[in-house]
Amino acid sequence: MKSMVARGVLSVVGRAALRQAEAKPDAATLLGALPLAVVLLDAENRFRHANQAAEQFLGVSAAQLAQHRLADLLPLDNPVFDLIAQVRRGEVTIAEHELSLEGPRLNKHGITVQATPLPEEPGAVLLVLQDASAARALDRQLTFRSAARSVTGMAAILAHEVKNPLSGIRAAAQLLESSVAESDRELTVLIREEADRIRALVERMEVFGEKPIERGAVNIHRVLERVRRLAQTGFAAHIRFHEAYDPSLPSVWGNRDQLVQVLLNLVKNAAEAITGADVANGEITLTTAFQHGMRVAIPGLASRLDLPLVVAVRDNGPGIPEDIRRHLFEPFVSSKPTGSGLGLALVAKILGDHGGLIEVDSRPGRTEFRLHLPILPEEELS
Ligand SMILES: Nc1ncnc2c1ncn2[C@@H]1O[C@H](COP(=O)(O)OP(=O)(O)OP(=O)(O)O)[C@@H](O)[C@H]1O
Ligand SMILES: [Mg+2]
Repeated sequence: MKSMVARGVLSVVGRAALRQAEAKPDAATLLGALPLAVVLLDAENRFRHANQAAEQFLGVSAAQLAQHRLADLLPLDNPVFDLIAQVRRGEVTIAEHELSLEGPRLNKHGITVQATPLPEEPGAVLLVLQDASAARALDRQLTFRSAARSVTGMAAILAHEVKNPLSGIRAAAQLLESSVAESDRELTVLIREEADRIRALVERMEVFGEKPIERGAVNIHRVLERVRRLAQTGFAAHIRFHEAYDPSLPSVWGNRDQLVQVLLNLVKNAAEAITGADVANGEITLTTAFQHGMRVAIPGLASRLDLPLVVAVRDNGPGIPEDIRRHLFEPFVSSKPTGSGLGLALVAKILGDHGGLIEVDSRPGRTEFRLHLPILPEEELS
């Protein structure tokens, strides 16, 4: 539905632009100049058109392609055929990530395919093909997964080896506290407080363990409300919140407490960015929306997961510092004097466990983290 609206807007812009243009290049010229691989299939999956980038991408000339059907390049059980059928049925644009295109002449992995129906030509479908490196969202997500994995083992060791002696240290300090002279009490309090700080840190790290998550139906608006309230009564009391929610959203398929943690980390970062830069009219905007067409393959899951629910946290702070962008989701990456750099690593880990995706857009004055989350599968609805 949403993609149809978007297409409508495009075609209006297109018509206005065409009216102004005196001599318009034909569509084939435009497509030829496009650096993206684009092919047009007819209702029988015959190649009606392929631009130059597509010839290169597929390693087949347009003249040869014109003699063939998609089934000559790929076995019929390739998920691309499903994708195309679904696009024809639903008349919406769908993007599918991490596809493998393997056939007699093709051997490509980690491909993103975006399929769009052409309403003017019943059954015709336009495919845009991209390497994983060009598919930003997924590329980042893969980095996050490995970042999260690198702390998994360490988290378990830390939790095990540090927590026990720490309890001993804390108890000893507490005992001393009652017997030492007033002047030394300050030191025992310091030991106790620092032990508490390490314990809190270790507890945060424990979430990185490899336990499977318990999921259920989660009302994302309740989660957001809770996070907003926590923020406004604490670290974000001076910041204005805006909410733009789509009230008709279905439930997220996830773990409520973990989703609270994810959003709390994002909102806390937004608030800290605003406060740290002394932004006068600090604002955090929370949005939810339903968006068709984001699907990913999840390691260990046979079927592909739809991620139609989008939750965004936006702030008008200074933006993410250039030098840490590449490593944003890795643990211990922080630009704050007292930051542990675990917030976003945790967000990435939890999102990964949910099979979700996260995207970031940041420039001075506008930083947005967008979460793509799964909704309750039908078999869970009973
Ligand atoms: N909304 C934002 N605006 C600007 N920079 C951000 C934003 N969110 C995150 N960052 C940058 O990313 C870094 C990493 O964030 P992360 O939440 O992982 O750690 P932290 O906030 O520094 O520490 P912790 O969350 O463990 O207290 C931050 O130090 C900050 O530089
Ligand atoms: Mg943080």
